Amino acid sequence: MLKGTRIVVGISGGIAAYKSADLVSRLRKKSALIKVVMTKRAEEFITPLTFSSLSGNEVATDMFSCPKEREIQHISLAHWAEYIIIAPATANFIGKVASGIADDLLTTTVMASKAGVVIVPAMNTNMYNNPIVQRNIEDLSRHGYLFFGPAEGNLACGDKGTGRMEEPEAIVEYMEGLAGVKGDLENRTVLVTAGPTREALDPVRFLSNASSGRMGYSIAGTAARRGARVILISGPTNLEPPPSVEFVPVVSALDMYNEVMRRFPECDVAIKTAAVSDYRPASVSQHKIKKTGDGMSLALVRNPDILSELGKIKGGRILVGFAAESTNLLEYAREKINKKNLDLIVANDITRKGTGFDSDANEGYILDSAGATEELPRMSKMQMADIILDKVVSLLGKDSG
Ligand SMILES: Cc1cc2nc3c(=O)[nH]c(=O)nc-3n(C[C@H](O)[C@H](O)[C@H](O)COP(=O)(O)O)c2cc1C
Repeated sequence: MLKGTRIVVGISGGIAAYKSADLVSRLRKKSALIKVVMTKRAEEFITPLTFSSLSGNEVATDMFSCPKEREIQHISLAHWAEYIIIAPATANFIGKVASGIADDLLTTTVMASKAGVVIVPAMNTNMYNNPIVQRNIEDLSRHGYLFFGPAEGNLACGDKGTGRMEEPEAIVEYMEGLAGVKGDLENRTVLVTAGPTREALDPVRFLSNASSGRMGYSIAGTAARRGARVILISGPTNLEPPPSVEFVPVVSALDMYNEVMRRFPECDVAIKTAAVSDYRPASVSQHKIKKTGDGMSLALVRNPDILSELGKIKGGRILVGFAAESTNLLEYAREKINKKNLDLIVANDITRKGTGFDSDANEGYILDSAGATEELPRMSKMQMADIILDKVVSLLGKDSG
């Protein structure tokens, strides 16, 4: 699957740079075409000679050395590449690209390229968990950069935790998946809902929830990358919509209901990750509600159940729901899939720390209408998006076959 695929492998200055020799060698064995770019710091860990021998090409390290007359190296590498893999990616490299800094051959090549960029971080666990590094990863993910890893385990510095570079074998497998799935949602329209809704009480107050929208935005971005036309209907979030999706911002559950019903006929697949309020205030005060007594009661009325409505009219479309539960997770998810006529449901336990609502990671289960249940171990929401879409593609295949 990687035969003839043009890949730039970027190596930055981390201790795991030695593993990239194995990575380049494995990619070559798959008949991929490889050009290696090393940062100055990477040369402290391993020599360019190793990579020129393994890749069969001269290794590029300096932005200002022009190998051929009139050829600007970072631009020609950027154009040549179908994929760029940065392995290992240091905190420094990630931070520079996230801030728009292009001060060496690797950062300029990455920023000048339209290739799919896969970043394989490797660093000390505290460094990886540093909120600034996490924010940079989040920013880059939002702009379509893909992250693979890091893995958990013993680190070179003696610490234990998340930060190990993924093994070369796993990176090759990931790349094969990426190259293989490219375009498998072409000619399909995928409708994704995301984020929370806001149910107004008065001009400044509302009822809402902690949904960040990240799962839905990851699915929307990934579906677009896989060739789909994507309509993303989103409640208020702090996220940038992924490139090349049709973005429909909404506020309340009723807004979301109206937009989803309007756009549903156009789609082949609807994936409902939004955390839609079940209830809204029975009336919205025109003016700010004043303090009156020691307490107050709110009268609430039911919002429409969008997923149930879609289940009734879905026809041949694939319908995917999410169940965020704090008890009896699988039982409720199975009940929901049957009651709402869904094809798939992703079930998350919202009591787990560090996953689910307002988090970059997720874990849970994916259930299908035929009765199968598959566990989804802790992984990034981007990785989970690919797994969910793999299932959708296979259901679409069955449908058309
Ligand atoms: C022995 C040693 C090991 C290092 N390992 C890592 C690492 O695994 N990950 C990381 O982000 N930085 C690591 N660093 C720090 C980077 O080398 C440093 O941030 C450097 O500026 C990265 O430059 P580059 O991103 O341009 O390659 C290490 C430094 C030393 C001296």
